[in-house]
Amino acid sequence: MSLSFEGRVVLVTGAGGGLGKEYALAFAERGASVIVNDLGADTKGGGKSSAAADKVVEEIRAKGGKAVANYDSVEDGEKLIQAALDAFGRIDVVVNNAGILRDRSFARTSDLDWDLIHRVHLRGSFLVTRAAWNHMKKQKFGRIIMTASAAGIYGNFGQANYSAAKLGLVGLSNTLAIEGSKYNIHCNTIAPVAGSRLTESVMPPDLVAALKPEYVAPMVLWLCHEQCQENGGLFEVGAGWIGKLRWERTQGCTTRQKNQTMTPEAVRDQWDQVCDFTHSTKLTTVQESLQSMMTVLSKVESGHDVGTGPTAGPAAAASSSSGINPMAAVGQKLPQTTFSFSHVQCILYALGVGMSTKDPDHLRFLYEGHPDFSCLPTFGVIPSQAAMMSGGLSTVPGLDIDVTQVLHGEHYLELYKPLPTSGILTSEASIADVLDKGSGALILLDVNTYSGDVLICFNQFSVFVVGAGGFGGKRASEKAKAVVQPPQRAPDAVLVDSTTRDQAALYRLSGDWNPLHIDPSFAAMGGFQAPILHGLCSFGFAARHVLKQFADNDPARFKAIKVRFVKPVMPGQCLQTEMWKEGNRVHIQSKVKETGAVVLAGAYVDLHETAEVSVGVPQGGLQSELVFAEIGRRIKESGGELVKKVNAVFGWEITKDGKNAAEWTIDLKNGSGALHPGPNGGKADVTFTVSDEDFMDVVLGKVNPQKAFFSGKLKIRGNVMLSQKLEVILKDHARL
Ligand code: NAI
Repeated sequence: MSLSFEGRVVLVTGAGGGLGKEYALAFAERGASVIVNDLGADTKGGGKSSAAADKVVEEIRAKGGKAVANYDSVEDGEKLIQAALDAFGRIDVVVNNAGILRDRSFARTSDLDWDLIHRVHLRGSFLVTRAAWNHMKKQKFGRIIMTASAAGIYGNFGQANYSAAKLGLVGLSNTLAIEGSKYNIHCNTIAPVAGSRLTESVMPPDLVAALKPEYVAPMVLWLCHEQCQENGGLFEVGAGWIGKLRWERTQGCTTRQKNQTMTPEAVRDQWDQVCDFTHSTKLTTVQESLQSMMTVLSKVESGHDVGTGPTAGPAAAASSSSGINPMAAVGQKLPQTTFSFSHVQCILYALGVGMSTKDPDHLRFLYEGHPDFSCLPTFGVIPSQAAMMSGGLSTVPGLDIDVTQVLHGEHYLELYKPLPTSGILTSEASIADVLDKGSGALILLDVNTYSGDVLICFNQFSVFVVGAGGFGGKRASEKAKAVVQPPQRAPDAVLVDSTTRDQAALYRLSGDWNPLHIDPSFAAMGGFQAPILHGLCSFGFAARHVLKQFADNDPARFKAIKVRFVKPVMPGQCLQTEMWKEGNRVHIQSKVKETGAVVLAGAYVDLHETAEVSVGVPQGGLQSELVFAEIGRRIKESGGELVKKVNAVFGWEITKDGKNAAEWTIDLKNGSGALHPGPNGGKADVTFTVSDEDFMDVVLGKVNPQKAFFSGKLKIRGNVMLSQKLEVILKDHARL
């Protein structure tokens, strides 16, 4: 599908010739209404004529396009934008292109040479863009191009004035990209190369002829299209080639010590290291830059040796004496683990979390001959924990931690299918993030557990490593599943259950062999009077209380659980689960009844709605049903917002074993959106055909959609470009 600019109003400054003219023609050809601005100056900024802009407008109109001319200087920014509003009623795209040259060797650069260049390039781009800004903000759409130059990026003899202004535009663009992003205003910078009257004095004629402006214009059009999500980028473009640039910083070196004056000699002596790019980093934000300095500051003050060695600088700030280096650790995968089980493990686990034949409705979890024999949903933590056992975390690069200092701080479990009662499950664990909590490091370990290729459940372990903080990392992560505080009112239900003296001894048989839970002398080393109950055992108690109270003990109703472990429980104590039901979420707080101490806080269980269970448990054996059910839920929650963002109808044809197995229509165009099973009667703007397995691979992020498309696994009919918008719907379900 071609990129259209129909309905868009585009201002190109300096469009009377050279690159600007080419942009104006190209935009008009694709349906845009174009303001062709040009002062008609000579290359040095002298003179004025309307002829240049008029000619381009004539050419556009002759081809049936829409254009008006504007002859103001970019120094009158407001007038240019007013011209767009007068002629077409809006402004969507500003291409800051107008330019002049006043090349001089530096010594001969006059005030005027300096000022004129800055006025046209830097100040002109500022004035035009500022005039457009509020209009773009209001309409929540804008695309801005700044035109820099290789002379600014690398320097060029005789162009001190020009290079300074051109690199100034990069700085301007960097900040506009940040300020504009929440309004869907994107600003990017290009450093073009093309034959034009500006380059004909510096390039041989053959080259001027060969480097056509039309080899640059398509790049500008792409950056200005609504589909393009690039923002804050800097690109070199010419001859049809495009490359992206970014900043790179050496690992650097701290050249001072606590209570010692920093000296030029120390700087000299470590100069090689200051400039050594071997372990360079690529920073993208001023916060990252500042954070690394702050780390050095605190390390120097605390007397840590930060003087020399490859781990001395800010880039390595993260690898403090705590042994934690998030940059090395995040994204690392742990070796895959396999868990083989039968009904025996399911029953042992149920007993471990306090189920008893005393309670008749526990029998379905305790007796394999029961007609509804099932596995407790929280058994989902068991296959995943192998990755955590035997010090697995400390083998990860960047996590040089003391395993005796590790605490399980929080846990999240989500089931995508009811757990089987026997089989072989494989788990893939990876470090999702590492946070600096000051007194310790918090490691987020994400574990996906599969039966064959089918994703069964997801666990997130929040592991606190006492004493490993202060490495200068971030404090929070969007990847963390957050705890949620319960409502203020009295609980809607309270269930109490006693644990037995041997509860931990029993629970550990499900695979958590930490001696802390059985060996008195080991517990004493950890500062406990006696072995303590496993946090995940109390977690199991709480979850089954919710299941009993609000879901009829039906494991298929269970969706997810999150808890924070606050205090230990002693085997033999009574656990009291307080519950508040809010829609499909049941908030929970667990206490030790005898002491009133809160042991699980900020916790909740999410349940599936009764009516949706049939969707939640696919009948036709299609995994994709779960994803569509989830999309349906999401549309119910925030369909109106999605309709505004997406404005399209998507058809899906899911195949299984080469045959059509299901059809879905996601309508994000009409009303507040809807998900319908079945064919769409030709309503879809774009239709995807994909097998159930490939669909899941794409959704799970195992295969990228483009790859699936090019390898023929994903077939697309209709408006291909709309598939980009699909991300808005599927992105959040990368784990489904
Ligand atoms: P050009 O000279 O063909 O086009 C520049 C246009 O800007 C001219 O038509 C001129 O009348 C107009 N202009 C000058 N001052 C103006 C003002 N105050 N208000 C409105 N219009 C004004 O040059 P070319 O090569 O097409 O350059 C376009 C942009 O690309 C410039 O910003 C230039 O610095 C930049 N650039 C070009 C390179 C190349 O290889 N052609 C290399 C690096 C940067």
